Amino acid sequence: MTKENLFLCMGSACHQLGVYEVLPKLQSLIQAHELENVVELKGSFCLETCSHGIVMKLGDRCFVDISPQNVETIFTQDILPEIQATLARSP
Ligand code: FES
Repeated sequence: MTKENLFLCMGSACHQLGVYEVLPKLQSLIQAHELENVVELKGSFCLETCSHGIVMKLGDRCFVDISPQNVETIFTQDILPEIQATLARSP
């Protein structure tokens, strides 16, 4: 099965907002939900939505306003359902 790429913006604006605190939390969340074999977490250059907080992208969908404080909530409420929907669509 090919893994879905989950991009985390590592650009300078997102860096300033604490992306290096978000990264280990995301890695733990991916492990906790046993997604290591279905999702590849990748750093990305600026995703061009710098005024919207830390940004992640899965397929065509962007998740904005992520912070070290809310990453767990956004992952559980928004990103996880999107991962599950993407997996359900793939053959
Ligand atoms: S630096 Fe992250 S969106 Fe631009």
